[in-house]
Amino acid sequence: MSRIRVLRDAAAVAKEAAEFIALYVKSKPDARVLVATGNTPVPTYEALAQLNPDMSDTWAVQLDEYLIPDDDPRLLYAWMARAYLTPLGVTQVLRFDLSSQDTQRMCRLHADKISALGGIDLAILGLGPNGHLGFNEPPSGADAPTRAVTLSQASLASNAAYWSAAPHGSRAAPRNAVTVGMDIILKADTILLLVTGQHKRDILARTLSETPNPELPSSYLRDTNLVVITDQDVTGGAA
Ligand code: F6R
Repeated sequence: MSRIRVLRDAAAVAKEAAEFIALYVKSKPDARVLVATGNTPVPTYEALAQLNPDMSDTWAVQLDEYLIPDDDPRLLYAWMARAYLTPLGVTQVLRFDLSSQDTQRMCRLHADKISALGGIDLAILGLGPNGHLGFNEPPSGADAPTRAVTLSQASLASNAAYWSAAPHGSRAAPRNAVTVGMDIILKADTILLLVTGQHKRDILARTLSETPNPELPSSYLRDTNLVVITDQDVTGGAA
C-alpha cells in the first residue's frame, strides 16, 4: 500500500515528515529506525528535534557508509550523529563496524545485528538521482543483500556536492561504500520516502509508475507499506 502527500515546499515536507515520525515513535517507543543521511532529511530531523519527542528507547540503524578511515569527517556516521543522534537524544545505535578489514564480514555482521534486533520498523529514506536507495545502485534487485558497493557516476556527482563546501573543502566523494541491502529495506514495517526539489521530480515519477525492476531500485517501494512526502506533484494535482 502506498500513500503520497504532495506539499507546497521543502519546509512543509519537513514539518509533516517530522510529525509523522514523532507519531510513529509515540506509538512504538522502542522503534528500530533505519536512518538516511544526505541532504533531503536534514530539515525533517531539525523539525523533529523541535517537536522534542522522546526517542530514548528507539534504535537508530545506519543505512549506509563510505569505506574511509574512521576519523574522516566525510563519514556518514558523523553526519548521522550531527543531524539525528545528538539533537534527538538517540543513544542506541547500530553502526557499520569500520574496524573490520573484511568488508563482507562487516556487512554480514550489520545485517545479522539488524535481524537480531527484529528487523526495521520505520525506514526513513531519501531518493537517489538514479533511483538508488541507501547505496543500492542500479542494478539492485529486491533481494540484494547488505554489501560493499562501488558508487555509480550519477551518485558520485550528487554526493560530491556534500563535500565541496566548508568545512570539508573540495574533497572528492568517496567511491567505495557499504549499504544495507534491499532485502532488509523492503521488509521494513513502514517506509517513509522523502523527496524534495525539482531535480527529483522525474525520478520520483518513474519510481511511482514503473513496474518494479532492478534498473530502478526505488521502483520496488511500490510493493511496500510506503508513505511518500514530497514537494513535487507527480500525481496530477492530488494532495
Ligand atoms: C544517504 C542515502 C542516499 C541518499 C540519496 C539522496 O544515507 O542513503 O541514498 O538518500 O542519495 O541524497 P540527497 O538527499 O542528498 O539528495
